[in-house]
Amino acid sequence: MQSYYQKFNKEKLIKKIKSIKKQDGKFNNLEVEYVLDVLENSKKKNVDYVKKIEDLFCKKFKVKYAIACNSGTSGLHAAMYSLGLKADDEVIVPGLAVVMDAYAVFHRGAKVVFCDVDPDTFLINYEEIKKKITNKTKAIITVSLQGLPVDIDPIIKLARKNNIKVVEDNAQDLYGVYKNRLSGFSGDIGVWSFENKKHLSGASEGGIISTNNKRLAERIRKFAGIGYKNMTAIGGRTSLSIEEVQDPNYKRFDTIGLNYRMPQIVAAVAYSQLKNSKNILKKRVASAKYFRNAIKNCRWLVEQKIPKHCKHSHYTFAVKFLTNKIKNKYTWKDIYKKYKEKGGDGFYGACAPIYKEPSIKKYLKKKNYPKIKLNNVEKIQKQIMQFKTNYRDLNLAKKKANILKKLIYEIDES
Ligand SMILES: Cc1ncc(COP(=O)(O)O)c(C=O)c1O
Repeated sequence: MQSYYQKFNKEKLIKKIKSIKKQDGKFNNLEVEYVLDVLENSKKKNVDYVKKIEDLFCKKFKVKYAIACNSGTSGLHAAMYSLGLKADDEVIVPGLAVVMDAYAVFHRGAKVVFCDVDPDTFLINYEEIKKKITNKTKAIITVSLQGLPVDIDPIIKLARKNNIKVVEDNAQDLYGVYKNRLSGFSGDIGVWSFENKKHLSGASEGGIISTNNKRLAERIRKFAGIGYKNMTAIGGRTSLSIEEVQDPNYKRFDTIGLNYRMPQIVAAVAYSQLKNSKNILKKRVASAKYFRNAIKNCRWLVEQKIPKHCKHSHYTFAVKFLTNKIKNKYTWKDIYKKYKEKGGDGFYGACAPIYKEPSIKKYLKKKNYPKIKLNNVEKIQKQIMQFKTNYRDLNLAKKKANILKKLIYEIDES
């Protein structure tokens, strides 16, 4: 069988690289060059894209420490480790989010207290959190679903008063704005994902964790980096002499960690994406605008509420389907099918309430959790439609939004 390289002679390879760069697609910038740089020069000390992306993240977002990791999930786990949770400690997590928010807590042996959300913004808020705080609460994980910033100031105030840490899961929100500040940097720790569909892609998986707290940064870096004793809050290669490290008496580890490090190839891709991140965001927001326009006269689809002091970063354009059956005929699934039949892209429903996922249900049962019912979560979870916004070609976004607009018209007229 011919190998990939044999099939690709040099000219073909160059042509391919040029075509990737020319496309107004997902990877159109420097990704190819940086990846080739890693493949060619990975042994050189200055070719360290993990360090590059961490430094650029700190500089761009004016945060002291950034630790690149291999997924948002590992980032959340490392964040929970850094807080030093104990078996009886409680962490408040919105019931409408992703299972990984709960997994991260369970993997530290602590308890999740599921919290209801605001039915209009879909997000965790001060009022719901307040009902759940006990003297065992050690942390709150806020989740900026769909790219909408959480109303974080009252939550932080409440947390400070009760000596509770705030971890912002911003996997779906990069460049969201809350009261003129970028979302994700107000709490103790922020976590982002570079999974392929997110604002920044690592071409597969990836993530980053940020904090202004040196002690937390060091604990996160060590945990995510197998627990090497000489790791500090700041990344980069260590300056130990090779003789010292090669010595059989040399002891390497002082923390029981995991290997959650970001691979250099992923870092090369994500670094290029971060450099181009403002353009990526602009396209998401512009795509969302087309969909907003498409539903503006619709009485049965209502957009996720964007509070006045927030700017949405539109991981998706999310709406609620306000009725079980429009015209006594069309359900959520019918709208989904009709939109696809007419050439629209399949939109996602919201993830099931975390506590209803079989993996979590089994765990909760084993640990004797009481029955959980969160009214808003359970109501809106069934209604949400998440339209995609990661169109790099805005004409395509416009076309898809027009399909939705026509479908709404047809249904209303039928
Ligand atoms: C809100 C949220 N948190 C965490 C994650 C986990 O990120 P990853 O897929 O990179 O592990 C995701 C990914 O889907 C997410 O949407």
